[in-house]
Amino acid sequence: MKLVFATNNPNKLKEVRALLPSTIKLLSLTDIGCKEDIPETSPTIEGNAIQKANYIKEHYGYDCFADDTGLEVESLDGAPGVYSARYAGKEKNADANMNKLLNELSEVEHRDAQFKTVIALIINHKLQTFTGVCKGAITKEKKGSSGFGYDPIFLPYGYSNTFAELPLSEKNKIGHRGKAVQQLIKFLNH
Ligand code: IMP
Repeated sequence: MKLVFATNNPNKLKEVRALLPSTIKLLSLTDIGCKEDIPETSPTIEGNAIQKANYIKEHYGYDCFADDTGLEVESLDGAPGVYSARYAGKEKNADANMNKLLNELSEVEHRDAQFKTVIALIINHKLQTFTGVCKGAITKEKKGSSGFGYDPIFLPYGYSNTFAELPLSEKNKIGHRGKAVQQLIKFLNH
């Protein structure tokens, strides 16, 4: 089965490819010739995932799925949440985003947070969503060099290493995206 994953983020592609069975051939946006910036204007993570999947179905005709992810920090009332990518500005710079968050929390002891991923799948003209959550805490400094985005400052619950210090297989096992992808696979198998 061919399925488009509506992303060009190499890290997301790597994580998801590592989880999917070889019977599913994953195509990226580049693979289908989509070069434009897909609109993400919804006020919710779920809304953005659905918007991206709908866009690909409408403009390119492929069965597809899209993921949208946010980092929700308890003491910031769930911010940056749906605005995680542009937290420090429209450049979507991961380092600047982490610096801003560490700054916001510099005097804060309560650092509980969660990553939330929503995957929106459109297959046979039907829409289905899957949500994966990973609870943890924001560290006081960046640690590790693997992964992407906010990984160097996110300590998953029960671990003493950040996502950026863990191997991909471990992040996929306990992580938000991995949990959402497992539900997607279960759905596709039925
Ligand atoms: P989006 O889902 O690509 O819109 O991501 C929103 C923001 O969350 C971006 O700043 C990403 O870098 C970040 N992000 C998404 N997934 C992850 C992840 O698995 N780990 C760390 N940061 C992530």
